[in-house]
Amino acid sequence: MNDKTAAPLIWGLGIGPGDPDLITLKAHKILARVDVVAYPAPTGSDSLVRAIAAPHIPADAEEIVISTPMVTERFPAQDVYDKAAAEISACAEAGKTVAVLCEGDPFFFGSFMYLFARLSERWNVGVVPGISSLNAGAAELRLPLASRDEVVSIIPATLDEDIIAQKLATADTAVIIKIGRHLDKVKRVLEDAGLAGKARYIERATMENQRIENLSELTGKTAPYFSLIILRKNGDI
Ligand SMILES: C[S@@+](CC[C@H](N)C(=O)[O-])C[C@H]1O[C@@H](n2cnc3c(N)ncnc32)[C@H](O)[C@@H]1O
Repeated sequence: MNDKTAAPLIWGLGIGPGDPDLITLKAHKILARVDVVAYPAPTGSDSLVRAIAAPHIPADAEEIVISTPMVTERFPAQDVYDKAAAEISACAEAGKTVAVLCEGDPFFFGSFMYLFARLSERWNVGVVPGISSLNAGAAELRLPLASRDEVVSIIPATLDEDIIAQKLATADTAVIIKIGRHLDKVKRVLEDAGLAGKARYIERATMENQRIENLSELTGKTAPYFSLIILRKNGDI
């Protein structure tokens, strides 16, 4: 058993939503001195999270690519995390420090939590929070999220239409994430609720190819993976 009070050898590092400058000082300092960086990449494609962190990754760092199949079911990917956790553990056993790079914040819908669940029984795993897409989207849209006693709901667009409608009904501010191929459904729910006019859309927030639109201006059937909608019902500050 390892000494779980010792300084972490393994870190989940939030590296922010896209702009490489939106990394915290703490994550930056840790990244600058790690031996190994690990990061997810869709099978057969480049890793976006690695690209975001690239300016800060030490040139001599070893790299572990967590090749993740893009499937909607939860379980087929579990063996991917078993394998990655074993590789990361082996590095820690050899006394190496490992940073797992996480887009946005590690614990805000981040796949890092699957690694954390596997590694944290044995190791003291450090977690450095990151600026999430929620915060980045609000800032880029110049849309305050909430004040006073307002309620903010984060709604995955993957939910069924009636559940999305229910969640929308009780929120003062709604942030709809994971839009992708669910764009048509999301538009329909917002229109039925009379809220489409207030919905602001942003894709690739803080990245070089960021795009901002009103929902009505989106003509395609799908949206990119890195997109979200924010709507604040009573936007009077
Ligand atoms: C699996 S979640 C990961 C969230 C991430 N851990 C965070 O802290 O923002 C992926 C979803 O977050 C949203 N997202 C993440 N980064 C984004 C960005 N830069 N711009 C817009 N949406 C983003 C999208 O809705 C995407 O489908």
